[in-house]
Amino acid sequence: MTPLQQLVKGIELSLAAGDATAITTRIAEVAQEVYNSCDNMLEGSSVKMDEHHYARNLLYKDAQNRFTVIAMTWGPGQGTPLHNHDNKWGVEITCQGAIECTDYSIQPCNETGNWQCTPGDTCTQRPGEVGCILPEEGYHTMINTSAEPALTIHIYEQELTECTIFKPADDGASYQRETLALGYDNL
Ligand SMILES: [Fe+2]
Repeated sequence: MTPLQQLVKGIELSLAAGDATAITTRIAEVAQEVYNSCDNMLEGSSVKMDEHHYARNLLYKDAQNRFTVIAMTWGPGQGTPLHNHDNKWGVEITCQGAIECTDYSIQPCNETGNWQCTPGDTCTQRPGEVGCILPEEGYHTMINTSAEPALTIHIYEQELTECTIFKPADDGASYQRETLALGYDNL
């Protein structure tokens, strides 16, 4: 079995763990077990990088649409906009490089219709480290702040086909909310 096949098998078993907290906790354990048992999580898979933006590579889609597995590649300085996960749970494991994750709190600016987005906790995830996000959890960014390429593997509930993002407004202080469609760079 390839590492990806081991991961998929472990995810399938984890889905019986209970609620989203139990499922993501178990999947995070499985992802770390597979990571620690192999030299290359992507053995047998091909992933693309893009020189202009981070790249999303579909590795596996469950036939019953219970989950998807995605590899994301990040060149130096590449990162996501401020986004959420469309009320789905997710688990991420960093395989290579370092990714900085920052949580944000969001509040409406009454007079403009724009939004105030305030950064909160920040952490840096390194190879073998995992992060979980629950459906009710909020907005965040992920950025490769290092000078080296980075690689992360993400497991999402069902399939993340769109998310809400906040982009800096022209005033330089507030943000505007948009819906972003999510595709794959390897298909
Ligand atoms: Fe995210």
